[in-house]
Amino acid sequence: MTDAVTEIAITGETSYTVTIGRGVVDRVPEALGDRVAKVLIVHTPTVGKFANDLREQLQERYTQVLLAEVPDAESAKRVEVAAFCWQILGQSDFTRTDAVIGLGGGAVTDLAGFVAATWLRGVRLVQIPTTVLGMVDASVGGKTGINTSEGKNLVGSFYAPAAVICDLDLLQTLPRNEILAGFAEVAKCGFIAEPEILDILERDVDRATDPTTPEFQRVVELAVGVKARVVSEDFREGGLREILNYGHTLGHAIEHAERYQWRHGVAISIGMMYAAELGRLAGALSDEAVDRHRRILTSLTLPLAYPAGRWPGLLATMQRDKKARAGMLRFIVLDEIGKPRVLAGVDESMLQFAYQEIAS
Ligand SMILES: NC(=O)c1ccc[n+]([C@@H]2O[C@H](COP(=O)([O-])OP(=O)(O)OC[C@H]3O[C@@H](n4cnc5c(N)ncnc54)[C@H](O)[C@@H]3O)[C@@H](O)[C@H]2O)c1
Repeated sequence: MTDAVTEIAITGETSYTVTIGRGVVDRVPEALGDRVAKVLIVHTPTVGKFANDLREQLQERYTQVLLAEVPDAESAKRVEVAAFCWQILGQSDFTRTDAVIGLGGGAVTDLAGFVAATWLRGVRLVQIPTTVLGMVDASVGGKTGINTSEGKNLVGSFYAPAAVICDLDLLQTLPRNEILAGFAEVAKCGFIAEPEILDILERDVDRATDPTTPEFQRVVELAVGVKARVVSEDFREGGLREILNYGHTLGHAIEHAERYQWRHGVAISIGMMYAAELGRLAGALSDEAVDRHRRILTSLTLPLAYPAGRWPGLLATMQRDKKARAGMLRFIVLDEIGKPRVLAGVDESMLQFAYQEIAS
């Protein structure tokens, strides 16, 4: 186990590198390249200190380095906030060879990505995620977007960054509950493709979730590696990328039921437990593998159950989900750990039966 700097390549329709390490925020100029003159750093107040430090670091090299402080979390992902960023870019005469940096959690990298994709039909983008979820999921893969009053992520584009820089030192200030919620996606990568993640979590969950340890760096690298392999093969979500939705069909319905007040990973944890039960009922996943889900998610203090009476509402939401194709519900299930597949057109009684297994 190492804490040297690791670079993971995204290839295929787009290519760029995800750099993971400590102090790697120093590599931003390299990521921006030589042609950039002006830089806009989009960030939330929670990472204001990092944004100021970065601005100072970049000021010597670039003609102009501006900060756009945007509202926290989901409040950043609004068209008014994108317009605020476009206004700064317009007033400062940003051209096609200038750049946008997204510095923050997944909400900020989604917004900054959308702003970069749309300004002059696309300017250079460097993502610097500062949450676990941002590092292993939101900033990798080129999905950008904002919300509308009708729903989450309804407006956006596939727009690849020039680089993603995951500086683990930036996680020092991240609250513990955010770290653990982010680990739902890390564990997901373990379940669908990378059992070594599960081994590390089982060996010592405290070390694995402590951003200062080599174990933490290793699981982040492994999880980014899973996402990198999948999006390299399927940038536009035509097929393979669907496996990343493990636990997300029910998880999204729970997020909706909780009016998006729950952390994403908390809902996904219940969704994965459900998918595991469904995988067992569908015939292939062993009892031991289901128990492994239960043990690992519990060790991350993530929930596994949801009230019994909520099933009809959840089912109705899942049926409306944009990912349901031709009216058919689709779930990702495992035949064994590391072997995901699509389960479609399942009988409603089997879906309900699986829910009874996780109902509280
Ligand atoms: N584009 C994609 O492929 C993709 C994938 C998954 C999720 N997402 C999006 O990501 C968003 C969720 O991301 P998230 O979980 O990172 O939430 P978030 O961006 O809302 O950040 C969570 C909280 O942590 C704070 N924070 C961030 N970094 C911090 C730091 N270093 N120290 C202290 N506080 C810090 C934020 O200000 C916020 O309050 C959602 O909008 C979701 O739709 C996008």
